[in-house]
Amino acid sequence: MTVSVSIHENYDRLSEQVARIFARHLLNTPDTTFGFATGETPKQFYERLAELYDRGFLDFQQLKAFNLDEFYPVGPDHPKRFKRYMDRHLYDHVNVDPRQVHVPDGTTDQPEKEARAYEEKIRRSGGIDLQLLGIGCNGHIGFNEPGSAWDSETRVVSIASQTREQYSVESEPLPDQAITMGIKTIMHSSRIVLMASGTRKAEIVNRALNGPVTREVPASILQLHPHLQVCLDQQAASRIDESYTNDEDPVERIEQEVAQS
Ligand code: F6R
Repeated sequence: MTVSVSIHENYDRLSEQVARIFARHLLNTPDTTFGFATGETPKQFYERLAELYDRGFLDFQQLKAFNLDEFYPVGPDHPKRFKRYMDRHLYDHVNVDPRQVHVPDGTTDQPEKEARAYEEKIRRSGGIDLQLLGIGCNGHIGFNEPGSAWDSETRVVSIASQTREQYSVESEPLPDQAITMGIKTIMHSSRIVLMASGTRKAEIVNRALNGPVTREVPASILQLHPHLQVCLDQQAASRIDESYTNDEDPVERIEQEVAQS
């Protein structure tokens, strides 16, 4: 199995490159569906996209987009609400149709129902064409924490304590749950771009790309995606092994794991 990995000099260059991938896709297919992530890593990527719009290169009018996840429960004004993040970093700056961009509703009092409806909305819109992912220091993708089932769909999950530390803000207590696309939802995307930056991600990036495909490192499943592109800065790439140590037949083992879960 070969994974396409590109390594960029620094965070700026990395963000530029990832923006170029999404921009090219949007130019070729204006009515496409993107899957978006939040967090520290893609902030500059969104800035670059908004800049390309400002300069008249991009048109977001026909775009559909689904975010990976949202904290649960969150009040409408919670500073960490991903809906706010998306408005602030992208949607307030480009000509998206607000009816076509989706983030799971963390303010609902029926989160399970919301999760099922979100999965169905993705399915009805024809699935995700290009999905952006970050990676947590424990290998999570979306809020699919270690141990998540490979066949999971959008659902309500508990956030791991390591992840809560990553996102903590002193002023506001962080919700201990989230609504997240599942591993299966993510793997059904036609194409995936995984983006990572900084030395704190170096070890987990190596485990995800070169280690065994294991539920202990949710991102390791991406090794089996047919159209995965990994974009790293030099720091995040600094621990990648020269040798490739995939399982001999990870597909067979995963099928067994799915059957047992
Ligand atoms: C965010 C998300 C998370 C982040 C991951 C990395 O929507 O789904 O999986 O991508 O926690 O976060 P940062 O970029 O802040 O290191």
